[in-house]
Amino acid sequence: MTFVGPISYTCISYSFLTDRILEKCSALFNNNYGIWANDAPLHSNNALKAGSRVKLGIKRLREFLLFNDHCFLVVAEIRSSDIDQFELIGHAFCTYAKYDPLNGNAVWITQLVVDSSYRRRGVAGTLLSMATNNVEDVVIAGLVSSHPYAIMSLCNACNRIPINLKFIADHAENVIRVCNIPYVSHTQIVGSIFDKQPPLAVDINQQPISLVNTDFFVDHKELLVILKTISKKWLLGPLLDGHELLIVLPTTSVRHSRTTSNGSSCNISP
Ligand SMILES: CC(C)(COP(=O)(O)OP(=O)(O)OC[C@H]1O[C@@H](n2cnc3c(N)ncnc32)[C@H](O)[C@@H]1OP(=O)(O)O)[C@@H](O)C(=O)NCCC(=O)NCCS
Repeated sequence: MTFVGPISYTCISYSFLTDRILEKCSALFNNNYGIWANDAPLHSNNALKAGSRVKLGIKRLREFLLFNDHCFLVVAEIRSSDIDQFELIGHAFCTYAKYDPLNGNAVWITQLVVDSSYRRRGVAGTLLSMATNNVEDVVIAGLVSSHPYAIMSLCNACNRIPINLKFIADHAENVIRVCNIPYVSHTQIVGSIFDKQPPLAVDINQQPISLVNTDFFVDHKELLVILKTISKKWLLGPLLDGHELLIVLPTTSVRHSRTTSNGSSCNISP
């Protein structure tokens, strides 16, 4: 089957997320996310096999990524040329919450995957722009990811604003708390900007700057090569095993509530 452009992007709100859509997301994730690291069996009582693909079925997608009705999904699809069918080539699971410290809403990206055949074409950046524009009065957006390009795609979606470590230090923990994401809320944030170093001593050159200890032992080999090549302009520091990079950025959406800033916002559901 051949697929033809253009790529179409759609935001789907919580109540429209059927098992049929989630099956496609599960297949995209299972085939494109990554593989378990050598340490994964050790940290999972041998339940996970090193080198095998990281997989998530629809039951766990619902449990981890659709945990309340503020969760929504943005999909990137391409229509096939021979039959009238859409192929899912990328998705971003997202959520939002009111964020009082900056008088607006926070958007959090809970999962981002792009089909390996469609990478480096701005698909991730566009998915994340759609996500921030889908919510009214967005003032901040964030994600936790082991992939440096996921971080860069969020920077692109946030008007290519430079990463500001003080902004991350000031807001990341609060945003994680208000968004109440099940797999991140109870994890340990580490890094020099939070004045929190990991309990086990690490090489002085490997001192983290902005990480979350998610105990997610996905293979980092390819990502460490990327980090090496971009090291001169990389501000978020090293990536440790079992950890993921943490970023929040200031942003604005094209959607604004009709109430004034001193009134309560209404109708923010995507
Ligand atoms: C991370 C991921 C989502 C990026 O998807 P993508 O559609 O290729 O990303 P984009 O094309 O929007 O690229 C975003 C930025 O990353 C950087 N980048 C991406 N691919 C690059 C490459 N091959 N070489 C150099 N820079 C690259 C660029 O800065 C790019 O912005 P630019 O094109 O304006 O310079 C994709 O690689 C992926 O699905 N990886 C596996 C899953 C994963 O780790 N997800 C994150 C967990 S939350």
